[in-house]
Amino acid sequence: MTRVLKAKKVLVTAGPTYEYLDDIRFIGNRSSGKQGAEIAKCLHKLDADVTLIIGPVNLELSSLSKVIKVETAIQMNEAVKKAGPFDIAICAAAVGDWRPKKKAKTKIKKTSGNKPPIVELVENPDILKNICIGKDRPSLVIGFAAETNDLLVNARLKLRNKGCDWIVANGVDAESNCMGGEENEVIIIKKNEEIRLARQSKEKIAWHICKKIVEEISG
Ligand code: C5P
Repeated sequence: MTRVLKAKKVLVTAGPTYEYLDDIRFIGNRSSGKQGAEIAKCLHKLDADVTLIIGPVNLELSSLSKVIKVETAIQMNEAVKKAGPFDIAICAAAVGDWRPKKKAKTKIKKTSGNKPPIVELVENPDILKNICIGKDRPSLVIGFAAETNDLLVNARLKLRNKGCDWIVANGVDAESNCMGGEENEVIIIKKNEEIRLARQSKEKIAWHICKKIVEEISG
């Protein structure tokens, strides 16, 4: 592949977020961060200036020079704003849509005879949407849609609602084992085109997505 990504500033978000109830309990999800990390590694190999902003994961990331580790959606949003602007943004993170309205100062206690606590949730900032409507919008913004049902319908809707250029849709129902697993199977959804990538390793999927990015940037 040609060196069209050389010195291009690229953002990749990846991994889950943890939304804390108290210092030790959180609401999270099963994202391993692998797909986003593989994309970041591949773009780095293609000479892009990659910033990976990643939630709590257990991955080998030493080949990347710019890795910002965060825990919550609020921290991820702040880190994205601080590290930008970018030429290209790929939002692969499984950001928690909601967080507990209040984080308790001390561990919430189970007191016998008392009812379980009721957790009130508030919406987190939508990082992808903010990138798309921001004044320094990258020339290419790619979102992800992890769906357990109606994959294509939901992903096409997301493409429109978020205002991004492509959505990478992947099914994450229990049988697929894609979320947290080693392999993935995706459909790249553009406004006028859909590209299916058959089940293969997340590294190979990353390579195909990056090839499409290079083609797009080459014009
Ligand atoms: O809205 P939903 O979570 O289904 O959208 C998924 C896409 O939006 C992913 O690209 C994800 O990284 C991004 N997202 C985000 N901030 C949120 C929620 C989702 O960047 N708060």
